[in-house]
Amino acid sequence: MTLWFNPMDLSGKLKRSCEDSLHKAKMAWKAGDSDTAAGHFEAASKSMFKYAEYATSRSMEYARKRKAIEYRDFAKRLRDTAAEQAKGGKLPPPPSTSVDEDRTQEAGAGETDRSISETVSQLIHTSTLTWDDIGGLDETKRDIKYTLGLSLAKPPAEVKITTFRNILFYGPPGTGKTLLAAATSNSLKVTTEGQALFFNVKVSSVLSKYFGESSKIISEIYGAARDNSPSVVFLDEFESLTTSRDSGEQSGAERRILSTILAEMDGLSEKGRSDIFVLTIAATNRPWDIDAAVMSRFEKQILIPLPDPESRSAILRIQLERKGYNVAGDVLEQLIEITDGYSGREIERLCKQATSQMLGELNADLPEILDSGLKATQNYQVKIRALVAEDFERAATMIKPVTSPADMQRYLDWSPEAD
Ligand SMILES: Nc1ncnc2c1ncn2[C@@H]1O[C@H](COP(=O)(O)OP(=O)(O)OP(=O)(O)O)[C@@H](O)[C@H]1O
Ligand SMILES: [Mg+2]
Repeated sequence: MTLWFNPMDLSGKLKRSCEDSLHKAKMAWKAGDSDTAAGHFEAASKSMFKYAEYATSRSMEYARKRKAIEYRDFAKRLRDTAAEQAKGGKLPPPPSTSVDEDRTQEAGAGETDRSISETVSQLIHTSTLTWDDIGGLDETKRDIKYTLGLSLAKPPAEVKITTFRNILFYGPPGTGKTLLAAATSNSLKVTTEGQALFFNVKVSSVLSKYFGESSKIISEIYGAARDNSPSVVFLDEFESLTTSRDSGEQSGAERRILSTILAEMDGLSEKGRSDIFVLTIAATNRPWDIDAAVMSRFEKQILIPLPDPESRSAILRIQLERKGYNVAGDVLEQLIEITDGYSGREIERLCKQATSQMLGELNADLPEILDSGLKATQNYQVKIRALVAEDFERAATMIKPVTSPADMQRYLDWSPEAD
């Protein structure tokens, strides 16, 4: 069969288009225009994904895909922090924008294995976070506790109770998805009085750092999770596995990691072992990017929404009173109003901003005191006062919510079946 085009030409075109997008992205970044920069990084990512298909070796393909993922992640970061940047904050430093770095070194097998087990051990956490550290979300917490309880309790003889092993949390950024996963793993530790492990896997970073080895890493993680049952495997940014939909075909490596995760989620490797309990919790801000077949593997898909007034009140107490700050009488009520549309993370930032303004005001003489010596500084008593509405109003001009009502509506309208 003859091709009507010369693939090398297309490859050159893709490379130029990628370089062009990167150049524009860099200019926009220099000008502090995060939105435009994000758009160009996204375009560069798409071209780079396509360019990767013309690679002449596996390592070259992986190197290019890593870059494509890096640009995509960076664009996301720019968008996630756009609101702060608009207020004069600094843009994060961009990834290298040189397209010509195909010289990759093939690691020796021994080195690769070592780096896999190192990677896996870096992903293991034990968590001290408790359910009480999470404000609101009472129904979700109860749901998870019930699931854990049913999975760990003694079933009646001859009865096989099948419980949930795969849960997906979806919703806007900063609403407590990671907190819930951490509390879940911590409560397994309490339940069994042993060591519960929390495997915190950011899918996009496993993909970008260990592209060719990703599926090995996933198998290794599940292996370790089973060895340490009961445990939780938390797959953050789960949509990274399937977003390649809009950037053309999935690559072989992406397909491999996806099928590995799906096989592990199906519990193939623990068949017949009812004593092993590994709960997979996946989280995403973009559920609509996950394809239906993958979605159906999750027995439960739970929306973690922006907090309602009651939850905001609970989060505010956690962020202020639990940290020892006093809030004047009716201020909390006003704060609940002010924070309408804020995520838990934004409420936390708002509180931090307000408290640090207050501290800065009352302790403005600290730099001079430091000049007068270490002793004087150590003897200095940091001054505080109760926080007033004005503190928060001022802070609210700097910390704005990133999730618009329309964004939130998109989550509410989306349902797993509708996709
Ligand atoms: N319900 C909550 N109660 C108390 N603090 C919260 C809550 N939700 C968010 N926070 C605060 O915001 C921070 C971020 O929350 P978390 O990491 O769980 O968000 P997330 O939903 O995983 O966000 P992303 O989608 O961006 O990963 C937490 O460390 C915590 O300080
Ligand atoms: Mg998270």
